[in-house]
Parts: sequence; C-alpha cells; structure tokens
Amino acid sequence: MALSLNYWLIICLISLVQIQVSQSIHRDDQPYRTAYHFQPPKNWMNDPNGPMIYKGIYHLFYQYNPKGAVWGNIVWAHSTSKDLINWSPHPIAIYPSIQSDINGCWSGSATILSKGKPAILYTGINPQNQQVQNLAIPKNLSDPYLIEWIKPQSNPMMAPTEQNQINASSFRDPTTAWLGRDGRWRVIVGNKIGRRGRALMFRSKDFVHWTEAKHPLYSLRGTGMWECPDFFPVSTSGEDGVDTSKVGKGLKHVLKASINDGFFDSYAIGTYKYNLGKDVFVPEKGSLRLDSQSKYDHGKFYASKTFFDSSTKRRILWGWINESTDAATDIKKGWSGVQAIPRKIWLDKSGNQLVQWPVKEIEKLRKGQVISSNTELKGGSVLEISGVTASQADVEISFEMSTFKNVEELDPRWSDPQAICSKNGAGKGFGLLVLASKKLEEYTAVYLRVFRAKNRYVVLMCSDQSRSSLHLDYDKTTYGAFVDVNPVKEKLSLRTLIDHSIVESFGGEGKACITARVYPSIAIDGEARLYAFNNGTHNVKISKLAAYSIKDARIS
Ligand SMILES: *[C@@H]1O[C@H](CO)[C@@H](O)[C@H](O)[C@H]1NC(C)=O
Ligand SMILES: *[C@@H]1O[C@H](CO)[C@@H](O)[C@H](O)[C@H]1NC(C)=O
Ligand SMILES: *[C@@H]1O[C@H](CO)[C@@H](O)[C@H](O)[C@H]1NC(C)=O
Ligand SMILES: *[C@@H]1O[C@H](CO)[C@@H](O)[C@H](O)[C@H]1NC(C)=O
Repeated sequence: MALSLNYWLIICLISLVQIQVSQSIHRDDQPYRTAYHFQPPKNWMNDPNGPMIYKGIYHLFYQYNPKGAVWGNIVWAHSTSKDLINWSPHPIAIYPSIQSDINGCWSGSATILSKGKPAILYTGINPQNQQVQNLAIPKNLSDPYLIEWIKPQSNPMMAPTEQNQINASSFRDPTTAWLGRDGRWRVIVGNKIGRRGRALMFRSKDFVHWTEAKHPLYSLRGTGMWECPDFFPVSTSGEDGVDTSKVGKGLKHVLKASINDGFFDSYAIGTYKYNLGKDVFVPEKGSLRLDSQSKYDHGKFYASKTFFDSSTKRRILWGWINESTDAATDIKKGWSGVQAIPRKIWLDKSGNQLVQWPVKEIEKLRKGQVISSNTELKGGSVLEISGVTASQADVEISFEMSTFKNVEELDPRWSDPQAICSKNGAGKGFGLLVLASKKLEEYTAVYLRVFRAKNRYVVLMCSDQSRSSLHLDYDKTTYGAFVDVNPVKEKLSLRTLIDHSIVESFGGEGKACITARVYPSIAIDGEARLYAFNNGTHNVKISKLAAYSIKDARIS
C-alpha cells in the first residue's frame, strides 16, 4: 500500500515536472506561439471549415496536416467550444476513406438541414486528382460533439464531366447551402474559366442529387480563381445576423471570394434575385466589388467563412492567418498557421460596407486593466501604457484632434492606402506602438493619419512592420486601409488584439481591419512594451484608453 502510494506520488511529481517543462517550452523556445488565438498543439493548419453551432456547442473544423508543419496530407481536424474562446480537441472528423476523397479532404461548409440536422459538403480529391464535392453526415445525431461522420455511397455529389466542362483543377470549396422558396437547396462552389472567377451554382431537392444551374450565381472577369466563396444575407437595420436561407425585405446579400491571385478575401454587397428559374447576385452600383479595396482585412486573413449563430443571432466570421516565415522555420518550430479571433460581422449603417468586431466572449479573458480618459498626448511624444502584459493584450484607444488647421494635404494621386502607409511612414499620425522593446529598437506601429482632401477629410489606418523585428529576413510589409469615419464628428478609434506574434487591429470601430504577423527578437513576453504615440506637431487628446492583459485561453 505504502509503496504504491509512493509510486503514485512519484508519478505525480514527474507529471508536474512535465507540465512545467512544457510551459517553459511555450515561453522560452516558442516565443511566437499564441495564447488565445486558436491553433492546434503542433503541425500545419489552414482554412477554417464547417463552422456551426449544434445543440449549444460551437464546432470548428480546419484544414490540417497530421504529419507535419507544412501543407500536405490534408484532413478535417475538429474542435468544439461552449464560448468560441476555450476549445477541446476531438479525433480527426473527415479523412481520406473513399474513392472520391482518397487524395485529400479539402475545404467545405456545414449546413443545418430541416429538423436541425447538420450536413457537410467538402471538396475531395479523387484518384485522378480531380476536385469533386462530397457529402458527410453525422453518425449519431444525439452526440452534440458530432465526433463521427459518415459518407453516403452516392458520393461524389458534384463532379467535373465531359458535359459540364468544369475545370477539374479549379472546382472547390462549397459554401453553406441555402433553401429557396421552391423548396430546393442551393450551394455555390468556387471556379474559374480563363481569368474569370466564378461562383458555380448547384440545386438539390434532397441534398444528395445536385444539378448544376445554367448560370453561375456571379462571375467577374480578371479576378482568377475564387476559393472559399461565401454567400449570406445581412440585415439593413441593426447588427443582428440572419439565417443563411432568409430572403425578403430589410436584407441585402454579401458575396465573398478568396482571391487566389494575391491571397485576399474580398466582398461585394448587393441583391440576390430569383426569378424564372434563375438565381443571380447583382452587386450594388458603387458597392465594393471584389477588388483589393473591399477586403475583409487588409493584412493577413484568408479563406474565411461565416456561420449564423442562431443562439445569439450573430453572423460570425472565421479566417486563417498564415505565417510570414519560410517552411524551414515552420518545420523547426513545429507548427504553422493560426485562426483570427472570431468576429461578429454586420452591415454598416451607411449600407456601403461591412463592419467586424471581435466576439464579446473574448472580453472574459481580460484581467489587469489600465483605463483613462482625456489625456493630452503632446506632438512628437511617446507615452508608455504600463500595467498590462504587453505581449498578450487587448487595447482600445480613441483620439480627438485639437485642431484641423494643420492637417496634411492628400495628394490626389494617392489612391492606394497601402502605398501611402509604406512610402510616407507615420507622418503626423497617432496611434500605438505594440510589441515594442524598451529602447524602441523594435515595434509594430498601428496608427491613424488624417488628411484633407477636396471638401472632406480622409482617414488612413496603417500597420507598419518595418521595425517589428531586428531579424532582417522577416517580413517588413506595411499594410494600409482607408477608414470611413468623419474625424470632425466621430471618434478616431483603434482596437488591437496583441498575442505574441499576432497584431490584429480594428480601426473606426471595425470599419477597417488589419492583421499582421510579427516575430520580434527582443520584444518577447516580459520584454514587450506598449506605447501610445503622436507623431504630429499638435497635441491630440486620448479621449478614451482601455488596455487589458489577456489570460491564456484553454485551446488544446
Ligand atoms: C450517441 O450519442 C449519445 C450521446 O453522446 C450516446 O449516449 C449514445 O450512446 C450514442 N449512440 C451510439 C450508437 O453510439
Ligand atoms: C484549369 O485550372 C488549372 C489550375 O488553375 C489551370 O492550370 C489550367 O490552365 C486550367 N485549364 C483550363 C483549360 O483552363
Ligand atoms: C502566407 O504568407 C506568405 C508570406 O507572408 C505569403 O507570401 C503568402 O501569400 C501567404 N499565403 C496565403 C495563402 O495567405
Ligand atoms: C515619426 O516621424 C518621424 C519623422 O518624420 C519618423 O522618422 C518616425 O519613424 C515616425 N514615427 C513612426 C512611429 O513611424
């Protein structure tokens, strides 16, 4: 008895030591692993797949390589959560097991069918390396964790043929399906013909037999392959999300495509029309049009996907943030890729653009805080925000300009915000220096700059990585976006989620987003600092500052 107790104690001691070792690995050897963004314990991750809520449990599947830190051997890994922040891992949900997915199980989406039954459509790679669309359904609907998935005999559901002439190398990523008034389901799949990106549409009465529609839902010349399309309604009044099948008054529709040439997620707002057997999406005149100005996020954010959270009436957006390092570095650290914090997404009051904001559940992880209001920030000054863990933080800051007399003129030739941010630096801008070293050898500057244009002001947001790391071979890209706010009437606000190697920023209360991946060499963990700065000649007022340390989320 005594012996076995001793034995048990020794085991406990060993496991304690192991826990400590693994934590110190996290901190010392893995300075770039994130603490509250979703990532698996190791290996490669890319697109978020099939997000949904089922029996009160949030599901996230993701493209995963079980064998290494580079892309390959792709399966659907699976985690679930009750709050979108803390996650529990489950066995691989969808892996090559039938002819039509034997060479890979690529991206796809979940649809909640009648009586609340989930179904997944995903792209399989068949023995001829053709891209086809398959169906998977839960084995046990009583299991809220949906651990096991089965694939009906009749797969694939949609495939390239002689008749349809679909390019078998450019046919992937089915969306969440929606139910038309005629009782038929509709789904779109990404495709291209020549350089024309297309959203091919298929219809089905039973979710098993699918017929291609004569016309794509939408297509656009010169955009190349569309990956991970997404199509959903948004309410024209308020921030609530609506079910994907909803049509009618008070709604507009959003079409998003992940533009493979350039790797950005771009959207258009418009109307979804269904008449005489034809479904079409008509973008609004003047709406953003799947170009580089209409990105969800002007930094790193790709292959995103939304789902309707019926429990809270929100539409929630997931997106993949890739590494900026090379494969050798990723293999050495043993992992690659993270998911952005899930964002609530809705139509702005203007009706012209979408707005995104981190889900409110993230606020549960806030602990130590620094709150102040009405602080003058002198021209040319830097102010340390101390009292929070600067490597793991959530910062909200709003500015008011004391005068508009000395505002910089906008050169009318400057139309590309990223180019302005890259060429001109901070100019008279003000904002935050995050993941900064004490002597400012390293920092990532996230800031706003106000310009005077003809009859109006233009607000620019930049996220500048040129000084993010003393490592010379790391990415030095500077990102930029215009923020549609009027600085005379509205707050000039920034929110930044900092997580070791992620700087995820929201300007104008979510009207412009920029996510950066940074790999500092000094500003790591306890060495990281956080500052507010004003590079202008006049004072600006910090009308509100709220900075919080963020606790580790339970993720693996
Ligand atoms: C289905 O799931 C429920 C809930 O987890 C479980 O109690 C039941 O045993 C499962 N049924 C089968 C056949 O596995
Ligand atoms: C089909 O798509 C592949 C992959 O993008 C491309 O290389 C090929 O040229 C396309 N084929 C045709 C006939 O357009
Ligand atoms: C991933 O990051 C690299 C380096 O920043 C970039 O060149 C590449 O386009 C990215 N890939 C995707 C799919 O976003
Ligand atoms: C502020 O402006 C100066 C000179 O114009 C520039 O050298 C500096 O890099 C700017 N600060 C930031 C944070 O970009």
